This record gives sequence, C-alpha cells and structure tokens, in this order.
Amino acid sequence: MSTAKKEVKRVTTHVLQRMKENNEKISMLTAYDYSMAKIYDEAGIDVILVGDSASNVMAGHETTLPITLDQMIYHAQSVVRGIKRALVVVDLPFGTYQGDSKKALQSAIRIMKESGAHAVKLEGGKKISDSIERILKAGVPVMGHLGLTPQSIYKFGTYTVRAKEEEEAKTLLSDIKLLEEIGCFGVVLEKIPAKLGKEASESIHIPTIGIGAGKHTDGQVLVSHDVLGITKEFNPRFLRRYMNLYEDIKGAIENYISDVKAQDFPSEEEQY
Ligand code: KIV
Repeated sequence: MSTAKKEVKRVTTHVLQRMKENNEKISMLTAYDYSMAKIYDEAGIDVILVGDSASNVMAGHETTLPITLDQMIYHAQSVVRGIKRALVVVDLPFGTYQGDSKKALQSAIRIMKESGAHAVKLEGGKKISDSIERILKAGVPVMGHLGLTPQSIYKFGTYTVRAKEEEEAKTLLSDIKLLEEIGCFGVVLEKIPAKLGKEASESIHIPTIGIGAGKHTDGQVLVSHDVLGITKEFNPRFLRRYMNLYEDIKGAIENYISDVKAQDFPSEEEQY
C-alpha cells in the first residue's frame, strides 16, 4: 500500500477563471466555523464564503450591519483551519471600507494576515471603487457584490428584487464592467431578475456567482443555514433546501432530554 499522501489541488482565483471559460459551474456556500467548513471542503465545494450573514445566522442580529472586523476574522480563522481545497473569501463588514480607501486596505490586510483566507468581498460598484483598487494594488484578490447589497438595507428599505427598472439595471451593468476592468476576480450578483443575471454574466470575462440571480450566472451561492434548513422561517423563492435540520436537531435534542429524564442515558455500556 502506498503511503504517499494524495495531493489536493487547491481552488484558486485562476481555477475559477478557467471554470468560467470551460463553462463549468462554480459551487459556493457560506461557512463560519471549523467543523462545517471541513465537511463542505471534503464534499468538494469550490468556494467558501465567510459571509457577514454570520451577523444574522450565528449572532442573531436582524441585519448584517453590527458584525465587527474582529468577529469576521474569528470566523475566518476557524473556517481556514477546516479546509484543504476550497478558496476562502471573507466579507469586509459594514463600516470597514466605505468612504475611506486607506481604512479599506487596512481592513483587508488584517483579514488576510490574521485569518489566512485567500480573498475578500466588498459590496458595491463605482461608489467604492477607490477602496477596491487600493486593496487590489496590495495584491489582495477582491470579489465584488452587486444587486441586493444587504449592508445598504436601510437605504433600500426592503430585501425585494433589485434592478427590475431599466435605470438600476444599467447602473449594475456599468458597475460590473468597472469591477472587471479594475481587476476583481469575480462578482456576486444577489436577487436580480434572471434575464439581467444572464446579460451581466455574458458581458464580462470574470465569473459571476448568483444568489437569486437565475441559472445563467457562472456559479451559485447560498447561505448554508438556509440550505440545511436551520433557518426555517426564511423561505425566499430562490432558496432550495436540502435538509430540514431545524426539525432533525430539535427531535434529537428532545430524545436526549427524555433519555436523561428517564435515566435511560447513560446505560451500563456507556459508563466506566
Ligand atoms: O454574507 C453573505 O452570506 C453573502 C451572501 C448572501 C452572498 O454575502
């Protein structure tokens, strides 16, 4: 039997670019901790996003705004320890990059240095292009994020589909072109009409990853708590659930509680 370790071919931004060129779809999911990241990585996920949705699903906040840079770094460190293959992208949280490109660079450098992640993601187009360019100049790969950008929820007022009107669609198309031109390696497109998702994806050479942006983007991303059915109240049209973990975990915990109460656990075999 060979003792040679099987070499794991890491997913890089270049691999994602080749996947777009070869018409191979990119799979991306959020993760926020070591154990889940390890499972997703072993399952073969291409990209893990340490999303600021951690603010919602891990910390219980209503929006993504409260999460801090230190908290994002903690989640990113935990995820990086669990992966061998996937590309790890980390969200720059609200307030760490808007309107101050020097601060943006410092935030990105902290994430890269302290977590060992491979790239950062920022929400917005032209309005934050100074920050993106500065980060890119330092050699940090950047993923863009257009359409519904949850850090601007108080400006939008709702989480409904974005860019249904021509003017907003036009802005999105010019923003995505700009993100490609300045050197982003990919762009997340969130909650926009499928037709616009297709047009935007075909208008650039870098990969697009959609969440509620239709089937023609170059890849798909979902929040893992939604995919696993942990967030059972959240039911947007774009979501496909692959498990009902909320019910499964609740059932398991109820069984555990009743075993303890009935003195059925631990048994003779489960003690020393
Ligand atoms: O934070 C997040 O989970 C995200 C995804 C919705 C793309 O940005």
